[in-house]
Amino acid sequence: MAHDKSAFERMEKIVSLCKRRGFIFQSSEIYGGLNGCWDYGPLGTELKRNLKDFWWRRMVRERDDVVGMDGSILMNRQVWVASGHEATFTDPMVDCRNCRSRFRADQLPEKNGRKQCTVCGSDDLTEPRAFNLMFKTYVGATEDESAVTYLRPETAQAIFVQFKNILEVSRKKLPFGIAQVGKAFRNEINPRNFTFRSREFEQMELEYFCRPDQGLELLEYWLKERLRFYSDIGISSDLLHVHKIPPEECAHYSKGTYDIEFEFPFGVQELEGVAYRTDYDLTQHQKASGKPLEYFDEETKQHFVPHVVEPSAGVDRTVLALLCAAFDEEHVTDEKGKTETRTVLRFHPRIAPIKCGVFPLLKNNERLVGQAREIVDLLRPHMMVFYDESGAIGRRYRRQDEAGTPFGVTVDFDTIGENGPVNNDTVTMRERDSMKQERIALAEIKSFLLERIS
Ligand code: GAP
Repeated sequence: MAHDKSAFERMEKIVSLCKRRGFIFQSSEIYGGLNGCWDYGPLGTELKRNLKDFWWRRMVRERDDVVGMDGSILMNRQVWVASGHEATFTDPMVDCRNCRSRFRADQLPEKNGRKQCTVCGSDDLTEPRAFNLMFKTYVGATEDESAVTYLRPETAQAIFVQFKNILEVSRKKLPFGIAQVGKAFRNEINPRNFTFRSREFEQMELEYFCRPDQGLELLEYWLKERLRFYSDIGISSDLLHVHKIPPEECAHYSKGTYDIEFEFPFGVQELEGVAYRTDYDLTQHQKASGKPLEYFDEETKQHFVPHVVEPSAGVDRTVLALLCAAFDEEHVTDEKGKTETRTVLRFHPRIAPIKCGVFPLLKNNERLVGQAREIVDLLRPHMMVFYDESGAIGRRYRRQDEAGTPFGVTVDFDTIGENGPVNNDTVTMRERDSMKQERIALAEIKSFLLERIS
């Protein structure tokens, strides 16, 4: 479906919905924006938070063998020298001599064996030059070479340089992992496809340390675990592809890498990398710092540098994948026979920004409003709820469909006993995807929802 007109239109609609409903805005918009930087609005922030929380729950809290850390974005420059980022974290950059646009050489289309400028079509391009993607900055008041460092381009290095401290305090035995979620920065030559390639973004990374003989098996294990994760946040396996990187294309230290890819409307693109990085990173830091980063195996009495398997996912890319997977438009006919297009985000209840809309049938009836407010108070400590009393009930449902809210509770005259005892103390519970409504008891609302959103 990549690159055809309907896929392009679908992406346009998603971007416009994101802005209209407050998922994602351009950063610094009132000043013309800042290319490659994005702000999340109220709904986007909840969605992102739910994603990160579920990743943390799955990767750290539900396991005995993983602990968390939260490292600083600025680190000693020597970290980036030792990791190889200062010398080699580059993309090949070319300029178009005709229109002066700048590109990543490996992303340009070719015609008759020659790369083409995507702005003016010229093939008069400069030779590729290596462009380092790290944002350089100065620490302290002196702007000279001795004060240089970089905004981290990945969260992983903080984990490697704290390996020894965390091993000591957590008293874990191999295999065990250290997880981290946080900001990373890359001065991408061509940020594009909405938030897909940004200059500021977040990563969710796990470094899972092991004995050398466990690496290959754990690579397969983590690939499976990560695919299970995507299924559990509602991304269907039909939209995912596993790409095994051929050995000649893997980093020189990697003994195996998989890319988990997603079918975005603009093409199949990487969502996450799962890589067996051997003992490369710890060995580099051990050599450069002169500090031992070895593990002592009490059973075999051996000292060795652990190997590592790294599942590394992008928060923003996954949020974008969730939005793309959830977006749907369908034709529905109302009770008066009028057909309209219903826009709905079919998020899994677990990651949906708002879990439940609460609606009094009429806003000028004190008893309806009072009962609805009571339900809001009951649910609020447990989940994100949204109270809405304005407009026709059908319109209120539609607004929540567009926000991806999986459930809606309506308080009507049955609820407050004005239509007799049969449905007294019950509400209608509307389900977003099927639009089916059922009556459930007030006393059951909380457990009904908790069961479905956890
Ligand atoms: N520590 C390994 C590492 O950083 P990576 O493949 O460069 O590996 C991991 O990045 C993930 O981070 C990617 O799969 C992607 O989801 C996310 N990511 C990388 N660059 C990004 C960018 N410019 N914008 C948004 N997400 C990005």
